[in-house]
Formats: sequence, structure tokens, C-alpha cells
Amino acid sequence: MTEGAREPTQQVAAAREAFEREFERFAPFCGGVSANTLTLKQAGDLARELSDLRARHTGKKSAIASCKKLIGRVAAEDRASFGQLVQQTEAGIVKSLDEAEQALKRFIEIARVQSESIDVTLPGRRPRPGHLHPITLMRQRIEDIFVSLGYVVEDDREIETDLYNFDALNIPEGHPARDPQDTFYTTDGFALRSQTSTVQIHAMQRRGAPVRMIAPGRVFRRDTPDPTHNPMFFQVEGLCVDRGITMAHLKGTLAEFVHRLFGAETKTRFRPSYFPFTEPSAEVDYSCFSCGGPGCRICKWSGWIELGGSGMVHPNVLRAANVNPEIFTGFAFGLGIDRTCARIYQLDDIRLLFENDVRFLEQFR
Ligand code: FA5
Repeated sequence: MTEGAREPTQQVAAAREAFEREFERFAPFCGGVSANTLTLKQAGDLARELSDLRARHTGKKSAIASCKKLIGRVAAEDRASFGQLVQQTEAGIVKSLDEAEQALKRFIEIARVQSESIDVTLPGRRPRPGHLHPITLMRQRIEDIFVSLGYVVEDDREIETDLYNFDALNIPEGHPARDPQDTFYTTDGFALRSQTSTVQIHAMQRRGAPVRMIAPGRVFRRDTPDPTHNPMFFQVEGLCVDRGITMAHLKGTLAEFVHRLFGAETKTRFRPSYFPFTEPSAEVDYSCFSCGGPGCRICKWSGWIELGGSGMVHPNVLRAANVNPEIFTGFAFGLGIDRTCARIYQLDDIRLLFENDVRFLEQFR
């Protein structure tokens, strides 16, 4: 090579050295990447860096591209050998880049397949289908019976005013009947309803009379938890208002209800009682579904089980709901769902229903 071609030759050498310096950290991959040298993410990052390196050292603005432009300018006698040098250098650079790129690509492919592979021989996860809570099952049974008797199901609010929870139900402020139904109050005049009887007023205001409805739902009282009390429990209210409704209709309806729920041989018993919103009022009992009368553990050896409260709707309640008591009369009842549920499933303690112990709840599938 003559003197005139030395400088371009040095440029080629400089281009190769610059490439080799930068390529140095990729050189080990030219023979392949072993499985535990890199993570999938590291390999991906390296592949991107390698592609940048290729652009810098083989692209249009690379040092080797500048060398190519010099080929035409070197002396004619040196042109062929210089051209060969440039080509060989470029080919060397491209080969190194290709080898490293191939190795990284192969590694990424294998590592990705491994990370995404599924062991089809592993046993599957058994699905655990859910089921309805015993209180919901009980509520549905009660709803079905009353719907078939021509009642509509009302769903109403749990947060109430004193007006609906007490005053409109003929329980004015200071009335002793407020005491056993003390509930949880908010600071701005609202309270959690202590009985579903609130829905009597809402339903009559909404629907007017005649009306036949039941209202199952959650109620709240400041009761200390024990085997038969919870501060949160479920009741179902019943209301039938029409022309000429009498106590006989109340007795017939609840008798039919217990027949359908516990069997045709079940008897009912009405004991005089007091509720400010009914007059007359009665507690309703049904004959024990287990022993049928003589007494057993389920009915606490009395032969009877309490169903709830009932009575003829007080004229003041009809008036509070804009129903004329001169034209309409009605009966109402309120049953405790939790206690009925506990009796049917022979639970000693209604608190079990809300402990959310899956082992307990699973028995009600
Ligand atoms: C009432 O709540 C009346 N509103 C029922 C009524 C409606 C009477 C319409 C007349 C006309 P009482 O407070 O007795 O009544 O409650 C009714 C039922 O709720 C009880 O028989 C019982 O089964 C259930 N109960 C009452 N307190 C609790 C409690 N703390 N935990 C679980 N169940 C309860």
C-alpha cells in the first residue's frame, strides 16, 4: 500500500477499534448464551442495545460508511486493496453483530417458552361453588309462600327517621314501647330501623289501600348477643289492608303459612299481647314441627314455638299513612327469620348464623 492510502487505512482501523470497544461486552455471547447467565428481561435489554450498536456502526452515518466513501478517492493503484479492506472490516463487524444477535434471540425464545409453559400434568384447582346463606334460603321459602297467597314483596330502607320507626306506628316520644326497641342513631336525626313495621307506613303511602305485602329485611336493636338475640337480625313484616279485613283473616293466613312451611298438621296459637301499632295484638306460636306437641329439646319441652307478633292495624297507623280507617281495616304481623331458621335447622345459637365460619355454612348447600 502506498503512502497516499495510509490515512484512509487508519480510518478503517479506527472504525474497527471503536466497534470492538463497544462490542466487547457482547462478545461473550457470540458462541451462544448459557441458560443461567441472564434473565429474560436482561436479555431483552441487551438485544435492544445491540440493535442500537448496529445502527451506530453499520448505518449511513457510521465510521465504516465514511470509509466506503473514501474508496473512490484513494489513489487508483491502492483502490482495490483499500476497497477490500473496507469490505472485510464491515463484514467482520456485521458478522459479530449477527452472531451476538442470534444468540440473544435464541436465548429469549427459549426462556420465553419456558416461562410461559404450563405443566398439564398438575392436578387442577377444584372450583368451590358458593351457595345461599341459610337466612336467605329461609327468606326465600317465606317469600314463595306469601307470593303464592297474592302478596307482593317490598324492599325498603334500613336507615330511618323516628317518624317511621316510632311516631307513625303509634309510638310517640316518651312511650315505654320505645325502650325495648332502642337502636343505633346517627348524629343527624337518622336511626337504623328496629323493626320492619316501618315498611307498613311506606307501603301504604306508596300503594294506598287495598294492599297485601310482605317486607323481609334487616333490623337493628341494642340487644346484647346471646343464643336467641343479635343486635342485627332479620324480620319479615306482613300487612293486609282492605275493606272488611278481620282477625279471622289474620288467623287463617298465618295458619296457612305454617301449614306450608312446617306441614299440614301444624297448629297455631294466638296469645293476647300488646303492640302500640296493633289493636288487638297477639303473639303467634305454632306447634313444634319436631315432636308435634308432647315437648322436646327443640320446643324447650313446651310443645309450642314462638313465630312473632301480630294484630289488627291500629286506626292511628292507617291515618298516619293516609288510609281511611272508616273504610279500611287490616292485619299485620312481624316474624323473626333468624329464630325460625335456627329452629328449623336445630341450631342452639343464632349467633352461629353470622360468624361466617365456612365449615358451618357449608352444611346448608
Ligand atoms: C316486633 O318487632 C313487631 N314489629 C312485630 C309486629 C309486627 C307485631 C306487626 C304486630 C304487628 P318483636 O319485638 O316481638 O315484635 O320482634 C318480632 C320477632 O323478632 C321476635 O318474635 C323474634 O323472633 C325476633 N327478634 C326480636 N329481637 C331479636 C333479636 N335481638 N335477635 C333475633 N331475633 C329477634
